Amino acid sequence: MTAGSITPASDGNTKVLSVGEHTEGEATILAALLSTEPLPMEAMRIAVVGAGYWGPNLIRNFRTSPLTDLRWVVDLERDRAQAAIPAQTDIRITDSLAEMLADETVEAVAVATPPGTHQDIVFECIAAGKHILVEKPLASTVSEGRAIVEAAEAAGITIMADHTFCYTESVRRIRDIIASGEIGDFLYFDSVRINLGLIQSEVDVFWDLAPHDLSILDFIVPEGVRIETVAAQASDPLGVGHACVGYLFAGLSNGGTAHAHLNWLSPTKIRRVIIGGSRKMLVWDDLHPAQRVTIYDSGIELTSDPSERARLLVSYRVGDMLAPAFREVEALRRVVDEFAMSVREGRPPLTDGRAGLRVLEVLEAVGTSLGSDGARVPVSLPVPE
Ligand SMILES: NC(=O)c1ccc[n+]([C@@H]2O[C@H](COP(=O)([O-])OP(=O)(O)OC[C@H]3O[C@@H](n4cnc5c(N)ncnc54)[C@H](O)[C@@H]3O)[C@@H](O)[C@H]2O)c1
Repeated sequence: MTAGSITPASDGNTKVLSVGEHTEGEATILAALLSTEPLPMEAMRIAVVGAGYWGPNLIRNFRTSPLTDLRWVVDLERDRAQAAIPAQTDIRITDSLAEMLADETVEAVAVATPPGTHQDIVFECIAAGKHILVEKPLASTVSEGRAIVEAAEAAGITIMADHTFCYTESVRRIRDIIASGEIGDFLYFDSVRINLGLIQSEVDVFWDLAPHDLSILDFIVPEGVRIETVAAQASDPLGVGHACVGYLFAGLSNGGTAHAHLNWLSPTKIRRVIIGGSRKMLVWDDLHPAQRVTIYDSGIELTSDPSERARLLVSYRVGDMLAPAFREVEALRRVVDEFAMSVREGRPPLTDGRAGLRVLEVLEAVGTSLGSDGARVPVSLPVPE
């Protein structure tokens, strides 16, 4: 064993954890491995369903996390499953969901198939008693998403939505900064997510890109704040039959607003969110690795001039800018670790099925607004806990 790696191989499932590449949770495991104590948790035996574009990313992380033990890859196209795993491995492949589900040693399943297939696959997993990680969006309609959440809760199954961006270091920091009260009241969220994107045939630009902004917003807003109303405008300049350029406006329950500009037809790629607080403001530029998050101690203060009641005195405050340094870990690695730990600890994951459902509720309201010429429409209330 080298000083920089640990290889516990008692059950034939070799895991290598390099020192200096661990998250906080993994640090506990690392410490346990270095001592004579047993591992704090047994690796969770998992299967991945869907090995198209995104599935192989999950497969890679399930293979390398010490918290998970990848046993199966399922794809209707066996060749894709085969291509996603190493040539020499004991990971099994199949095109039959039922064959994998019949393996009682499998504890959990990650679903990375197109959204329209999620409900059927999840229902079969629930019937087989497996915990489930579902790719975003949770389902293709609110009623499917609600059925998934209710069935999982009734069966005592952990259900997690893969809202990957919520597990980036940037979004975690932003969430902590907002929760600490540093920026003051949460006033607005303004996102630009545009590039020359793949024109999807099944879904419009809102269903493709807005789940990222909506899941991030859901994750970072102060406790109790939710989207109450939505209004959306869109255009289809290429005539593909659905929106390629979209603008989403949301009214928040604290009186704040959120806005997302989503565009598959932009010559430049921008991934930037501005968050306004009553005391400070934040800019998150995801394409600027050296300075992804910047906190501005800047703002505008209004005071009334008592002698002229209608006149507002505006004072501008331009203070320090701070770009916190942080070590980044692949977000998807945190997703798979959070899934395993939430199952082992018997608690809801940070982005549970209800978080997935809240995103669907907003997306469905966007469709209603587009069908009503951009009218402001209410977002349905969450399912009572
Ligand atoms: N978290 C993220 O950032 C992120 C990024 C991209 C895609 N996704 C999500 O991942 C999911 C998959 O997207 P993709 O782009 O990989 O799709 P894809 O079409 O590239 O791959 C889907 C795979 O699922 C297989 N499949 C379909 N139905 C199946 C079934 N019933 N049983 C077994 N296999 C089946 C297909 O053969 C295909 O190989 C979607 O929900 C998508 O929104 C998430």
